[in-house]
Amino acid sequence: MRVLILGGTTEGYALAEALARDSRFAATYSLAGRTKTPLLPGGATRIGGFGGAQGLIDWMRGEKIDAIVDATHPYAARISANAVVAANALDLPLLRLQRPAWVPAAGDDWHEAADANAAVTALGPEPRTVFLTIGRTEVAAFRAAPQHRYLIRSVDAPEKNGLPPRAEVILHRGPFGLDDELSLMRAHGIGVVVSKNAGGEAAHAKIRAARQLQIPVVMIARPPLPAAPECRDVEAALAWLQDEITSAHGREPSERGV
Ligand SMILES: NC(=O)c1ccc[n+]([C@@H]2O[C@H](COP(=O)([O-])OP(=O)(O)OC[C@H]3O[C@@H](n4cnc5c(N)ncnc54)[C@H](OP(=O)(O)O)[C@@H]3O)[C@@H](O)[C@H]2O)c1
Repeated sequence: MRVLILGGTTEGYALAEALARDSRFAATYSLAGRTKTPLLPGGATRIGGFGGAQGLIDWMRGEKIDAIVDATHPYAARISANAVVAANALDLPLLRLQRPAWVPAAGDDWHEAADANAAVTALGPEPRTVFLTIGRTEVAAFRAAPQHRYLIRSVDAPEKNGLPPRAEVILHRGPFGLDDELSLMRAHGIGVVVSKNAGGEAAHAKIRAARQLQIPVVMIARPPLPAAPECRDVEAALAWLQDEITSAHGREPSERGV
């Protein structure tokens, strides 16, 4: 079975690794190309956009893809929407593999913001020391609030001219441990954390550290995505693919869009 994995997450990577070891599958792992030195799994990989939904449809048709697993980050809304359009157009099965969102626990002080601009507003007018952990692409929104001091953490450096004036950048891919997060936040005198609701373990320590230090978190909400069948972990995605193999054997090739 020929599978397209839209990747960029730990789960997408793990799924690609698992399929690379299973001769029943020929999977291609696709990345947008945002990270300079991406981690690439075994098996076929490709890097770069497809050219919108139509580009994705053309690529999938050319590669005779049988099924798509959208294992992109919950905030990668455009590619997830394109995956739904392409799956519908080609009448192919699509599964969205997405980690459950974090939920606030006792002691958490979360302030939900709809997007990065709303997060800027939520910081308020008074100068604060902000731990900005939202990746590098939306950092420029915080130029609108130059009164704050920012500690910005990302995998690759944000554009220099997109930074707010008082910003220190640290580059780190994670995962992050609780003790390290506590020391970092204490050392920088962090007064508020701005985060996306990534879910999963690798980035969760900053949330626990904020709880322990009684620091508020401005949590940028996940963007709405078009409806699609979903699962929450790699095991469930493997089971779904197994089912797809079984049911594809019961169908004529013309019904499989081949
Ligand atoms: N957004 C985040 O916070 C975040 C965090 C960690 C990792 N990531 C990963 O980074 C990638 C890009 O995120 P984004 O927020 O820029 O997504 P996006 O806004 O949904 O996508 C923008 C465009 O990038 C291309 N693209 C995105 N993911 C792709 C993939 N896996 N393979 C090929 N092309 C892809 C598509 O270009 P075309 O229209 O030309 O096909 C898409 O229209 C995703 O793979 C995501 O999993 C994102």
